[in-house]
Amino acid sequence: MRDQPARPEPPDLLHVSLTVNGRAVHADIDPRTTLLDLLRERLRLTGTKKGCDHGQCGACTVHVEGRRINACLSLAAMNDGRRVTTIEGLGRPGALHPLQDAFVRHDGYQCGYCTAGQIMSAAALLDEPCGSGDQDVREMMSGNLCRCGAYASIVAAIQEVRGNAQDGRAVPDVRGTAQDGRAVPDVRGEARAVHAHAPGER
Ligand code: FES
Ligand code: FES
Repeated sequence: MRDQPARPEPPDLLHVSLTVNGRAVHADIDPRTTLLDLLRERLRLTGTKKGCDHGQCGACTVHVEGRRINACLSLAAMNDGRRVTTIEGLGRPGALHPLQDAFVRHDGYQCGYCTAGQIMSAAALLDEPCGSGDQDVREMMSGNLCRCGAYASIVAAIQEVRGNAQDGRAVPDVRGTAQDGRAVPDVRGEARAVHAHAPGER
């Protein structure tokens, strides 16, 4: 009987501590673990999607310290001590983020696979220098691919929340008086009242 080749030694585990959606998270991980795999496989935050796993599609977009990144390109260990926000931390049923609400009303998705990444990118864009036109938004969102081709609706939703709707599109007043009196936190810091709909409602 021939000798079996020696199995490679498993790598030493690395301890990381992050704050994810406001919650302290501690984990012992393989140092090669990406932030995306930590979120999805260990923390079961599966709203963040794995598309290409190579930084090409934007499906895995999350915020780290308030800035958008592709979680598939970032090792979890690189984010030790940092604050991470995923789509689960942006809003929740009954208290949607204004962008989530706008995506629903504008049909900003079909299959929905890219949607979490689109919304996380758009939420970061609200605090980034970006011109007022639709073309400016398309440029700033160009790292987020939608295979269903919902781009026109995605841009319309983002522009509505930015207050820059163009071309005569209807602009529901997301800054107006809330019909049910609820306030949804504005990512730009001020409280903003919005209409809330369950996903799928019109
Ligand atoms: Fe990260 Fe595609 S899964 S960019
Ligand atoms: Fe299907 Fe964007 S809604 S990939």
